[in-house]
Amino acid sequence: RGFLQILGRTTLITMFAGAGAFYYVTQLDRNPGTQLPFDPEKKTLVVLGSGWGTTSLLKTLDTTDYNVVVISPKNFFLFTPLLPSVAVGTLNPRSIIQPTRYITRHKTRQVSVIEAEATDVDPINKTVTFVDNSDIKGSVSSTTISYDYLVYGVGAEVQTFNIPGVQKHACFMKELGDAERMQREFMDCELRKGTPSEGVETAAFPGQDSKEIDRLLHMVVVGGGPTGVELSGELHDFLEDDLKSWYPELAGKIRITLVEALPSVLPMFSKQLISYTESQFKESKIEIMTKTMVKEVKERSVVLQMPDKSIVEVPCGMVVWAAGNKGRKITQDLMAKLPQDQTNRRGIAVDDFMQMKGANGIFAIGDCTATSYAPTAQVASQQGAYLARVLHQIARRDALQDRLSALEQVHAALPPVVAGDVADAAATAEAEAKKVEEEKEELKRQLAKFKPRPFHYSHQGTLAYIGSDKAIADLPFMNGNFASGGVATYLFWRSAYLSTLFSLRNRTLVATDWLKVKLFGRDVSRE
Ligand code: FAD
Ligand code: NAI
Repeated sequence: RGFLQILGRTTLITMFAGAGAFYYVTQLDRNPGTQLPFDPEKKTLVVLGSGWGTTSLLKTLDTTDYNVVVISPKNFFLFTPLLPSVAVGTLNPRSIIQPTRYITRHKTRQVSVIEAEATDVDPINKTVTFVDNSDIKGSVSSTTISYDYLVYGVGAEVQTFNIPGVQKHACFMKELGDAERMQREFMDCELRKGTPSEGVETAAFPGQDSKEIDRLLHMVVVGGGPTGVELSGELHDFLEDDLKSWYPELAGKIRITLVEALPSVLPMFSKQLISYTESQFKESKIEIMTKTMVKEVKERSVVLQMPDKSIVEVPCGMVVWAAGNKGRKITQDLMAKLPQDQTNRRGIAVDDFMQMKGANGIFAIGDCTATSYAPTAQVASQQGAYLARVLHQIARRDALQDRLSALEQVHAALPPVVAGDVADAAATAEAEAKKVEEEKEELKRQLAKFKPRPFHYSHQGTLAYIGSDKAIADLPFMNGNFASGGVATYLFWRSAYLSTLFSLRNRTLVATDWLKVKLFGRDVSRE
């Protein structure tokens, strides 16, 4: 009994200490201190975007080096890997976003965060024009500012290949709004913009035509990359874990089809993991159609080009388009201003130091660039952190250069030593000139040392959720690759993403959402 009492007391003390520490950390986060004001002597660094690349840059950046201005149409960072979980209601949309000010308010010098969309970058005059894209407009809605350095990290948009009907009828999985809309309207099985709602409830309506039920409950995911595969897995979980219980009469009729133009899904994973995913999907009754290309999306069907080139129209209730990325218009416009150097159709060409080729003072990171790396969060965040370190070196180099220019002016202004000067005056002038010369030489020596290391990407592995509490992982291991799939990998996937989330707040919210869904399931009520 005494032992149990001591154990009880120890547990209680540990719990209180843990809760106290947790509270302390959250309060530190909520109450940022006073920041240094902008310094007119410092150069202006404009950062476009608040995504993976630029958020990672802001976290590492030494803001005492610059006056920093962040411009982004979203005033938050979005943790994209968990976006498909929001789409089916596993996670609350707010759990995977982090306001940019939560990061910038903790920096030493103040950072100006402007919610606006950059519409033009002038690489010659070094200016950025941006517009207020919110619904509520103030007295000013468009402004142009100058920059000394620009970090360009606006990401990419969804690639539709101009396929007819995609913009109008399909749903995307790129922004928080896409997932929120899908979550809200999932029960409608009718994500098509501007069309009347119909879906699970419509399918369940007494006397509904059986062909119509089959159509309404057929969900087509286009693109067998990681986005399409993860979304199919999440959709399957929702149907299996929740809809089956609440709509038993429809359970067997719900179908998911994943359409991929290439011979296999997930080309970036090892053959072993591709086969594993395919067999898991087969077990989960998710149909994979490879070598099949979507040619058109209609209001109530998709038109497919089959492997034998025949054209088939398949009725469906919902189409989710996850067919890859393409450059934003502002990126294409910027590249068009530098036609000699920017010829890569995939995106902005940069050198090994992330400098945009042909532009002075512009650095580009993440999905908007065309590099040898895949357009992933992992690459963008490493580039962001790398660039923050380079910018610190550049600030030091610029300070040395400024000092050197000042000394050169002093040197030029020194009176020449002329024959006939009083010996003392001549000696003083000579000593002064020597001092200036020595300092100049020292500055030149230091400047010569300024050689930032090129960007080096360190691949930490690739993970993907495939549904039914299973995930796949290709991890670099002992100079080789370790491929694994299954429930243990799924637990690893969860803990990896939980620890990658940028803040304690996000980690707590996501963990709580997971627990809520485990206990109570997802919500199937319609607004
Ligand atoms: P983004 O993160 O897209 O950020 C771009 C920023 O620019 C945004 O803040 C945007 O609002 C802003 N912006 C847009 N237009 C303008 C403008 N005109 N002016 C100013 N700002 C602008 N990668 C992984 O490595 N692992 C994963 O598990 C993973 N899962 C993913 C899941 C999904 C559903 C998706 C869609 C992507 C996933 N990715 C994953 C890919 C990853 O999200 C991207 O590679 C990453 O977001 C690229 O970072 P970025 O900073 O270049 O762009
Ligand atoms: P993706 O480019 O990887 O895949 C898109 C797929 O759609 C391609 O396989 C393409 O062949 C197919 N496709 C294109 N047009 C088609 C058509 N008309 N009909 C049928 N299929 C068509 O795009 P995704 O999945 O959005 O990923 C984008 C980037 O984000 C990638 O670099 C990816 O690695 C990364 N990402 C990583 C994740 C992870 O690591 N877990 C998760 C999600 C994205």
